Parts: sequence; structure tokens; C-alpha cells
Amino acid sequence: TLRVAILISGSGSNMEALVRSMTGDHPARPVLVVSNVPGAGGLDRAARLGVPTATVDHRAFDSRAAFETALQDILTKARPDLICLAGFMRILTPTFVKRWPGQILNIHPSLLPKYPGLHTHARALEAGDTEHGATVHEVTPVLDDGPILGQIRLPILGSDTPETLAKRLLPLEHDLYARVLRRVAAGDRTRLDLSPEAKPR
Ligand code: GAR
Repeated sequence: TLRVAILISGSGSNMEALVRSMTGDHPARPVLVVSNVPGAGGLDRAARLGVPTATVDHRAFDSRAAFETALQDILTKARPDLICLAGFMRILTPTFVKRWPGQILNIHPSLLPKYPGLHTHARALEAGDTEHGATVHEVTPVLDDGPILGQIRLPILGSDTPETLAKRLLPLEHDLYARVLRRVAAGDRTRLDLSPEAKPR
């Protein structure tokens, strides 16, 4: 059974979807949820789901390197095979990423390579895009880069705001991330493309 650690900074809804998916014949199990934000909503959620939690508050360290050393120590003790970033809002340095080659996955709320970084919903709207979506990719030393493992697409409506788009996208993210994690845990890194209209659950 593969061991999965999940890194969060916020509400942890993607984390919850991943944890709930890892039951039965799933090839992986959650072993640890780590937040860089003390009191993040996802910590409570993880505890209620029975997953061990830890907090590594980046503000308590003098440097990014010191923060990452503490994070590495906690992760190393948990011996994860895979590390899922789920709304984790710190940039990881190449030193950190290279310690876990091909083992870190991230979900990003855009159709990468469009809109790496922040404010993806607003940027898609400002560009006049007719569709939006989310991407799960392997983490490499370049931010929001790395091989794409899966995408889910979502039509943009004339009435959409960044908030309505984010709200419609979130449950699709959960579906995408859980499906990609299962495939990757089973050794399948081929790309998964989902569009909710064409493929109801
Ligand atoms: C999700 O929309 C995720 O794609 C995004 O943050 C949200 C976290 O929600 N991630 C990023 O923007 C990464 N740069 P959650 O905590 O409820 O899963």
C-alpha cells in the first residue's frame, strides 16, 4: 500500500476528497496532513477523518530554507510515497522538490499552461476565455509546470464572476484529483482528460 501525505494551507476540501477516496481496493492510504497555516480549516477536517496532522508555520522560521528543512523532517518521518499539494500556497524550492522526484502532485485551478500562479479565475474571465478548468500535474522545480496528469474543463458563462467560477470548479477539482491520484498510485501516469458534460459521474 502506498503512503500519501497531503499538504494544505486552507479549507482542505481537496484534501478531504483525496482522503475519502483512499478506501477499499485503492492502492494508497493517507498517512499525514501538514498545514503551513496554524488553524487552517483543513486541519480540523483531517482530524475528523482520522488522519494525523501537523503544522509547520512558515512564519516561525527565519528563512524559506529553515521552513523547508522542518517540513522535510516531518515528511521524512511519515515516509510518504506520494505527496499531494492540495491548496498548499507556499512555493517549494528546487532543493525540496528534488528530494521527492516525481513524487509530488499538485492541483492548480486553471487549464495549464494557461495561468500559472495566482488569481486564475479572474485572469480567465479577463482574457474572455469561454472555458476554464483545473489541472493535476507532477511538481518540478518550475512553478505550476511539470507533466500534466489530468485536466477537467468547465464552460464559462456570461454571468460568471471569479467567485462563481471558483465555486463551480471546486467539486470538479475534487473529482479530478481523486481520479488522478488513484491512477498514479496504480502506476498509470498517462494523462486523464475530463469534461463533466460528456462524462457524468
Ligand atoms: C483549490 O481551488 C486549489 O485548486 C487551489 O486552492 C484551492 C484550495 O481549496 N490551489 C492553488 O491555487 C494552488 N496554487 P481547498 O483547500 O478547499 O482544497
